Amino acid sequence: MPLHRPVPCPYNVPVPRWLLAAFLSGAAVAAQGAKTYVPGADATAVHQLLRDDLIPADLAGTTPDQLSALWPAWIEARDAAIRARVDAGDEDSIVHLLLFGTSFTTRPRASQGDLNALVKDPTQALASLRLRIADFAAAIAAPGTNERMQFARGVVERRGIDPATDAGRTALLGYLEERTVTVGGAVRALGLPDAELADQLTLFRDRGLSSDTSVFIGHGVDEALEVVRSERDNDGPLRTGTVRRVAIVGPGLDFTDKLEGYDFYPQQTIQPFALVDSLLRYGLSLDDELEVTAFDLSPRVLQHLEAARQRAKAGTPYRIVLPRNPDRPWSPALVDYWQRVGNHVGTNSAAITPPGAGRVAIRRVEVRPSVVLSIAAKDLNVVTERLDPLPTDQQFDLVVATNILLYYGVFEQSLAAANIAAMLKPGGVLLTNNRIFELPAVPLVGVGFTDSVYMTIAGVGNTGDRLIRYQKQ
Ligand SMILES: C[S@@+](CC[C@H](N)C(=O)[O-])C[C@H]1O[C@@H](n2cnc3c(N)ncnc32)[C@H](O)[C@@H]1O
Repeated sequence: MPLHRPVPCPYNVPVPRWLLAAFLSGAAVAAQGAKTYVPGADATAVHQLLRDDLIPADLAGTTPDQLSALWPAWIEARDAAIRARVDAGDEDSIVHLLLFGTSFTTRPRASQGDLNALVKDPTQALASLRLRIADFAAAIAAPGTNERMQFARGVVERRGIDPATDAGRTALLGYLEERTVTVGGAVRALGLPDAELADQLTLFRDRGLSSDTSVFIGHGVDEALEVVRSERDNDGPLRTGTVRRVAIVGPGLDFTDKLEGYDFYPQQTIQPFALVDSLLRYGLSLDDELEVTAFDLSPRVLQHLEAARQRAKAGTPYRIVLPRNPDRPWSPALVDYWQRVGNHVGTNSAAITPPGAGRVAIRRVEVRPSVVLSIAAKDLNVVTERLDPLPTDQQFDLVVATNILLYYGVFEQSLAAANIAAMLKPGGVLLTNNRIFELPAVPLVGVGFTDSVYMTIAGVGNTGDRLIRYQKQ
């Protein structure tokens, strides 16, 4: 059966001009297509190719006609369900802050022993963390100007907890203890060699959508682009100065990273600037031609990027703070990346070492306003939505999607791949650290990968990422 042949789709209707204008949100560089849900035809094609156990239960066993009939309601409901997972991710993020933050307490940060105890003996772990939890609860009750604590307060209020009352404060402590055990103890064996591939590739499918990010992935993407540069003279897909339109799916926001939990600098996004830095460094893009669209579904991430653009319009640079714990066994290549990242998009500025954060080396980069203005944020759920039709001259040369597909099941990942493929130009490249299932219905073919080492941990080995390149056929 010719599953990959395009089938006319009833949901792919032309969008009125006024509605199109609303999507453009005033950003001259944003991708100029209208958002539509993934067409039923693409879903049917993916559905037919996957094993039944990889299909969502409510779609399993349906015929193409039944799926077509179910599709409009199903995709709309799934879009809402995915977007609702952002709140759960926010709840996870505040626990990471509770465990490692230093802005609200002078108590020691959670140790590896505390984290192990959260799995093996939660009562003992909570005893060790109780004073830190109490300080966190007090800071939520009186957040002052601390933006992270204001955010944490909003999260607990959404749970119906009012820290302004005695009853609310008691409920707050109970809630934080329960969440600390659940989130802090959720140490799952990443990439267990004996786990089924589908389980390894969809590890966080039941978790809240976290926005967390760090500089590590920048190193992985940088090494992948260095290889792309070396291929460019051999008819590789991305040539010198030809990467003009780039999309990042899920740029993330460094609220508090899960490894160190530093919170002594304002929340920041890193990936868009690190990516532009690498593209300029390797000559793949020219400074004044590059246009980046940052797709995300988290209002917090989108608002953060939009606020940065507004400040850039007034000439204000974007400040990135890059901490490094010298006690961590970073690989020499990662240290080298950390020392130079940002050099092509901004300038180094003096950094202040904060009290209470332990031994930490800091780099601070001021990103040029022109670079900030080359990045436009756009609301898009990549699992359920695409920009369609995207005029040929608006299609992407490169799409980067890292640490995002892991949050979805195989069927949803395949829909995301179909959406990304629809927005890439022929020959364009998807760069991701999540291997996707290559299906004939989705015109993306793996063309290579790079392995980057971030740390070498005694008794564990190397940790890092495999960045895989898929090319649009
Ligand atoms: C864990 S962070 C990863 C950030 C960054 N890409 C990195 O590698 O460090 C995941 C990001 O993807 C976004 N995200 C999750 N699901 C998404 C979806 N279906 N569509 C668009 N963005 C999504 C989240 O809001 C967040 O910004």
